[in-house]
Amino acid sequence: MAKAKELSGAGLRGQVAGKTALSTVGKSGSGLTYRGYDVKDLAAHCEFEEVAYLILKGELPDQAQLDAYKAKLKSLRSLPQALVEVLERIPATAHPMDVMRTGCSMLGNLETEQSFEQQQDVTDRMLALFPGMINYWYNFSHKGLRVNVDTDADSIAEQFLWTLHDAKPDALHTRVMQASLILYAEHEFNASTFTARVCASTLSDMHSCVTGAIGSLRGPLHGGANEAAMELIEGMNDPEDAEQKLLGMLTRKEKIMGFGHAIYSESDPRNAVIKEWSEKLAQASGNTSLYDISVRCEAVMWREKKLFCNADFFHASAYNYMGIPTPLFTPIFVCSRLTGWAAHVMEQRADNRIIRPSADYVGVAPRVVTPIASR
Ligand code: COA
Repeated sequence: MAKAKELSGAGLRGQVAGKTALSTVGKSGSGLTYRGYDVKDLAAHCEFEEVAYLILKGELPDQAQLDAYKAKLKSLRSLPQALVEVLERIPATAHPMDVMRTGCSMLGNLETEQSFEQQQDVTDRMLALFPGMINYWYNFSHKGLRVNVDTDADSIAEQFLWTLHDAKPDALHTRVMQASLILYAEHEFNASTFTARVCASTLSDMHSCVTGAIGSLRGPLHGGANEAAMELIEGMNDPEDAEQKLLGMLTRKEKIMGFGHAIYSESDPRNAVIKEWSEKLAQASGNTSLYDISVRCEAVMWREKKLFCNADFFHASAYNYMGIPTPLFTPIFVCSRLTGWAAHVMEQRADNRIIRPSADYVGVAPRVVTPIASR
C-alpha cells in the first residue's frame, strides 16, 4: 500500500522540488545534517544560538561572534505595546499555535519588513521575541499574570523556560531545551518549510512566510504530533497498560502519533538524542513512569509494525518532565524551526522563480453553460 502511494506521487513523496544547501534528511550515513554537520554532533556540543547562526549565516560562530549574536538577540526581546494588547485579548481557550500565528502576523504589521536587506534583522527579532510572546499570553490568559519578558536569561532556551515559569530555570532543563531547539531547527522540504518557500517565491515578506509556515506546522501530522503523543501516553497507567492500549489501537488501525516518518525509513536520528535527555529528566524527577511507558510504546510499535519513534515521541515526556503544559509543545517547535524557515526564505529569495506546479485534471469534460432560467 505504501509502495502504491509512493508510485502514485501522492503528497509529492520522492519528488525533488528544489535545491538547498541547508540540510540533508535521510541520506545514507548520518541521517540529518545542517550545513554539513551531523545534528547529533551539534546537539552534543552547541547551544541553540550557535546552530541558528550556522543555519542562517553558513558557518558556526567563533566565541566573539556568538557573544555578539546573543547580545543582539537579548536586546530584541521586548514586546511592542500594541502586540501586548492583542495578546491580552486572545482568550485562554485559544490554541497556542493560533496565538503564535496571530502574534507573528501582528508583528508583521508593526515592524513590517520593508526590504530584503532587513531579512536577517526581522528574523532575529522573531527569534528573540517569540518565546516571551507565547508565554506572556499563556500566563496572562491562564493566570492573570503579566510576566516580564525582559529577563536576564542568557539564551533563547533559558528565555523560554524563564518566561513560562516566571523564574530562572533549572540548569538541566535549560540544557535539554538547548538540545530540543537544535533538533527541531531545520528539516529540509518538510510541509511547513515548503509552505514558507512557496510564499517566499511570490516575493512576499518574511512575516507572511513565517505566518503561513506556523499554520502548516499546527496540524497533527506535522508539529502537532508531540502534543498528540503526550495525550496518548498520559492516558496509560504503566508499561503493561501501554502495551494493551497500543495493541488495541493497532487492531483498530488507528494512527499512533509520534511514530513513522515521511522520509526516514529505519529511524529518526533525533529520537536517540531526546530519548536520552528524557531518561535523565525522569531520573532527576524521581518518577520514571512516563519514560518507562514511552520505552514500552517504542518496543511495541517496532515489534508489531516496524514503526520507529520520530523526533516528537520522546519530546512529549521530556517536555512534561520540565513542567511544560502540553498545548505549548508545538509553539516551542515554532521558536526553533523559525530558523530553518527563515534560512529557506533567504535561500529562495537568492535564486527565485515563483513555485507554480501543475495538476492532472480529473474533473468533468468541457461543457457549455445553460442560462439560469433554463436550468
Ligand atoms: N501509526 C500507525 N500506522 C502508521 C503510522 C503511525 N504513526 N505511520 C504510518 N503508518 C502506516 C500507515 O497507515 C501506512 O499504512 P498503509 O500502507 O496500510 O496505508 C503505512 O504505515 C505507511 O505510512 P504512510 O502514511 O504512507 O506514511 P507517510 O509518509 O504518508 O506519512 C507520517 C508519514 C509522519 C505523516 C505518518 O507516519 C504519520 O501520520 N505519523 C503520525 C504523525 C506524526 O508523528 N507526525 C510527526 C512527523 S515528524
